[in-house]
Amino acid sequence: MPIEIDFASLPAGARRLVEAGDLEIAVFNVDGRIYALGNRCPHRGGPLIRGTLQETEAGPVVRCPMHGWSFSLATGESARPGRATVYAVCVEGDVVSIDVEAEA
Ligand code: FES
Repeated sequence: MPIEIDFASLPAGARRLVEAGDLEIAVFNVDGRIYALGNRCPHRGGPLIRGTLQETEAGPVVRCPMHGWSFSLATGESARPGRATVYAVCVEGDVVSIDVEAEA
């Protein structure tokens, strides 16, 4: 069952922490594109929702606020060991659906 949130509640530049059972999902709107990552950093569990966003040649990344590791918003990949969980996102009209059972 996907999580649905109102697109209008997440304008460009906004971020939002969404909870689904035990899951915490960090949702970002970067220039109109929505990304959804597991909130817990794979290093030591830092809150990615409080990370710094940066644009790189490979696309946007989030820098964990705890030790500064960076993760691609699109793939979860990092130059460091470990990978953030990235969830599939679908935007239809005013609804953003996040499939918490399918990684992107
Ligand atoms: S907990 Fe995220 S970089 Fe260490």
